Amino acid sequence: MKVLITGGAGYIGSTICSALLDQGHTPIILDSLITGKIEFTRDRIFYRGDILDTELLKQIFTDHPDIQGTIHCAALIVVPESVEKPYEYYAENVWKSTNFFHQLHQLGYPRVVFSSSAAIYDVVPGYMVNESSPLKPNSPYARTKYMMEMVLQDFCVAYGMKGIALRYFNPIGADPLMRSGIHAKDPSHILGKLVDVARGKQPVFNITGTNWPTRDGTGIRDYIHVWDLASAHINAMQHFDSVIQATDNRACPYQVINLGTGRGVTVREMVIAFEKVYGQTLEKREVDPRPGDVAGSYANADTALSLLNWKAEMSLEQGISDALKWGALRKERLGYE
Ligand SMILES: NC(=O)c1ccc[n+]([C@@H]2O[C@H](COP(=O)([O-])OP(=O)(O)OC[C@H]3O[C@@H](n4cnc5c(N)ncnc54)[C@H](O)[C@@H]3O)[C@@H](O)[C@H]2O)c1
Repeated sequence: MKVLITGGAGYIGSTICSALLDQGHTPIILDSLITGKIEFTRDRIFYRGDILDTELLKQIFTDHPDIQGTIHCAALIVVPESVEKPYEYYAENVWKSTNFFHQLHQLGYPRVVFSSSAAIYDVVPGYMVNESSPLKPNSPYARTKYMMEMVLQDFCVAYGMKGIALRYFNPIGADPLMRSGIHAKDPSHILGKLVDVARGKQPVFNITGTNWPTRDGTGIRDYIHVWDLASAHINAMQHFDSVIQATDNRACPYQVINLGTGRGVTVREMVIAFEKVYGQTLEKREVDPRPGDVAGSYANADTALSLLNWKAEMSLEQGISDALKWGALRKERLGYE
């Protein structure tokens, strides 16, 4: 099958492309390279441009009329930056995506898989969330994801689009064949920071927040290997119509699915696992939570199992090991550590 992937030069999009290629499918990449890497598009069908570029979209669908659906990963994704630059985030993630979905509708390509985020959930007692759990997006970034879920849902009702919003928990690791991985120069996520400390880029790892009401006082997350995440997208595209048919509300061909492991891991547990895989202890210190930090959540992943026939297979240790391997390759692949 042929699939359009926006943001296919990014961390998750490029991994989805690798997984599609490995299974004999054809990804068509649309990426502006605003943050993505040209290195991740080599030997792949790649259109460099913005999702807002109507002419380019027409060209893509003229060149590839047999595209079965779109996986929409393109977005700006850095939470603290979204607090400083809300205009850019709402413009890039909401305004442009709204136009993009409308173009897809007008061009007659109604199937959309949307990269949403567990960051839109409220914190609930016990920390496990299912798709009906209360939402409370806590940053401009998270609000853009929430808003785009609403836009997609409304477009499904009004225009006959068909949408699957995949709420990712915390992606870790890299493509197991090391074709791509995290590319941010200063990763803002925990595992990127741990790798930076292990590689001597940072002197110390900050445990941000030790007084949360969790089992050890540190934040709890659900770390999912990016390769598992990628394979869920393939299942979503392959089972697209049956997933949509399974919706309770016939008038709204739209589904929301959590993508997580179903296992909560605290920051301290993550550090212990990291040190075990790395084989050395790291310099650590306990500091206050960052603005906007929350105790966290982990996924109830039952819907993914029943609708996508998918569950996470790869371990936390595999994710850590792949992140370390990719960390050692970054200089050669991207030109920077
Ligand atoms: N990484 C995470 O922890 C995480 C968690 C939950 C959800 N997500 C979502 O997954 C998606 C992919 O995230 P990622 O980590 O791969 O980020 P990334 O920054 O690596 O990839 C995003 C890609 O989108 C491209 N892009 C951005 N705006 C564009 C535009 N207007 N037109 C064309 N291309 C554009 C960028 O160049 C980049 O290649 C995002 O939608 C993000 O919100 C990510």
